[in-house]
Amino acid sequence: MPNTILIKNIKELVQVEDQPLKMRAGKQMSDLHTIGNAYLLIEDGKISGFGKMEKIPGQFPSKQQNFLSIDASGKMVFPSFCDSHTHLVYPASREIEYVDKIKGLSYEEIAKKGGGILNTARKMQDISEDELYESAMERLKEITTMGTGAVEIKSGYGLTTESELKMLRVIHRLKENSPLSIKSTFLGAHSIPAKYRGRQEEYVDLVINEMIPQIASEELADYIDVFCDKGFFTVEDTDRILMAGLKHGLRAKIHANELDYSGGIQVGVKYNALSVDHLEFTGAKEIVTLKNTETMPTILPGAAFFLGMVYAPARKMIDAGLPIALASDFNPGSSPSGNMQLILSMGSILYQLSPEESINAVTLNTAYAMDLSNSLGSIALGKKANVFITKPIPSIEFMPYYYGSNKVETVILNGEVQ
Ligand code: NIG
Ligand code: FE
Repeated sequence: MPNTILIKNIKELVQVEDQPLKMRAGKQMSDLHTIGNAYLLIEDGKISGFGKMEKIPGQFPSKQQNFLSIDASGKMVFPSFCDSHTHLVYPASREIEYVDKIKGLSYEEIAKKGGGILNTARKMQDISEDELYESAMERLKEITTMGTGAVEIKSGYGLTTESELKMLRVIHRLKENSPLSIKSTFLGAHSIPAKYRGRQEEYVDLVINEMIPQIASEELADYIDVFCDKGFFTVEDTDRILMAGLKHGLRAKIHANELDYSGGIQVGVKYNALSVDHLEFTGAKEIVTLKNTETMPTILPGAAFFLGMVYAPARKMIDAGLPIALASDFNPGSSPSGNMQLILSMGSILYQLSPEESINAVTLNTAYAMDLSNSLGSIALGKKANVFITKPIPSIEFMPYYYGSNKVETVILNGEVQ
């Protein structure tokens, strides 16, 4: 494998940073720095140089071994997408339930019929760890070909200590064996298991007293999540769980305000969550709560689109000075796609984000929402060489515009062509 890659004649090198930022908020989200007719140098898995072709270092092409030169004439280079919210470890798809959705049943009605998350949780009890691993690895390979270079994966389809641990062990194996950068999140409080109906607090006790300590002691999670929403977990439940998580070193990244003004945003910010995600029900009060915090507001266009819900007020939020991240929510129930190019397009088409804002939302800001913006999310010296080369495309705007097809031609992860 070459340990030096030189990409030459790049039509446009996109999302370049000389002074790397942790994220972009408000008006800054319109800043997208690019270099036309550029080169990019990658050494030992890291970005070690970039600039205008005429300034290319003299010693190239190099005689050294393990050197690969790629001509990117007519093509662009982007930092890989970071997908900061997925549930891509799951036992089976749910296309039959999708027909109920077409017939008009709401997410909550499907959940009440024992569908939704509980349907997946039932299947999770029986599937072997190996099968779960293999199917998730296939999904990782698929999203890799579409330009994703880092992904967060949640548990939350187990809902018993044993099955939650099984999911987290699978995520751990994926971390060890996939070239993608992966973060794992414990989401024991994703739904109330059927056997705890009417005894929700007892399930919360189980999450706090049994699941969290065991997961933390085996170091199986980076973050903790709760589905804090109408019909699921209350603000009080969420408060207790996030407090317990914090005691065990797990920072919050929560599902909030998807179904109602649930108070999820407020409790997330109270615990300095790394992100609060979904946010369809975000009003003036919630925007004020999010201002000047370290919490990344994360919108999941795939779920809102697939479920036919109201769209989060992304435009208002950015205009109020907030940052926005856009992630896929890849899962079998509400967003059966991990295609971040589609999410980029949706950012522009459904949420009125400019192409520049949308690109920031799927790269740097999602990297921040995984605590990876020091090493991913932009083209900057010393960052991990997770980038993709596009097919020949006419402009940057073409990326969100030409929706639905794969514009990625070559993927490089950790400085290696995939
Ligand atoms: O993020 N909102 C909660 N959980 C998932 C849905 C999971 C499912 O339906 O399987 C989501 O959309
Ligand atoms: Fe989700």
